[in-house]
Amino acid sequence: MREKIVAGNWKMNKTFLEAEEVLSEITDLLSEREDQDAKVIVCPPFVFLELAIDLSYEGQFDVGAQNVSEYEKGAYTGEVSAEMLRSMDISYCIAGHSERRKYFHETDEMIKNKVDGLLRNNISPIFCCGEALSEREASKHFSVVKTQLKKSLFHLPADEFQKVIIAYEPVWAIGTGVNATPEQAQEMHAYIRELIEQKYSKEIAGNTTILYGGSCNAANAHALFSNPDVDGGLIGGASLKAKDFAAIASALH
Ligand code: PGA
Repeated sequence: MREKIVAGNWKMNKTFLEAEEVLSEITDLLSEREDQDAKVIVCPPFVFLELAIDLSYEGQFDVGAQNVSEYEKGAYTGEVSAEMLRSMDISYCIAGHSERRKYFHETDEMIKNKVDGLLRNNISPIFCCGEALSEREASKHFSVVKTQLKKSLFHLPADEFQKVIIAYEPVWAIGTGVNATPEQAQEMHAYIRELIEQKYSKEIAGNTTILYGGSCNAANAHALFSNPDVDGGLIGGASLKAKDFAAIASALH
């Protein structure tokens, strides 16, 4: 179902005490929101998932993971399986983030395996796609995103695909302070929706949640979220401060 979502990707930041503090602050600030339409998801590092679940009891936010193993279970030291996440009541997990693609050499095939494992465990993947700066400059951004979707998502049957949340995150905008313009975001989101329509149906395309990510902050969130095909955001740096994150959530209505 198409939803309005603001998801925070903490990446590898915060200690236990800092996590506790910011989650409590987020709860307080979100409870003051006038418009509670948007769903808020916080994706902390694995070690803080239990803490986040405990602190989410007031229902102000849901908890997601940042990563999952492509393997089901067994001798994979250091890995965390989709089944483990499910057993913690985790309903969302980021897959295919550009930092995982770049620093941990995740391929489209590995990301496909992760998506499949998550869906087998009834966890909604927050599937990230997006082009590098050189690809945009070479006008390849549409074809790059199309390939990413085709290789890691479009094998899914319609009923499974409908559980996926897509995040368009141009790599050049992540952590750089240079966000895509609202026009660039809208253009790509509309294109992604068109691809979904071609592959599945107009109805499914209309029901898919497509988030924007990349230097989204309290100052630019409203302009980005005002576009008809932008259903919210995946927020990195600005999700680390409760005030900024809550302001972004409030910009989505
Ligand atoms: P950023 O990161 O908001 O810090 O640019 C977004 C993301 O990586 O999901």
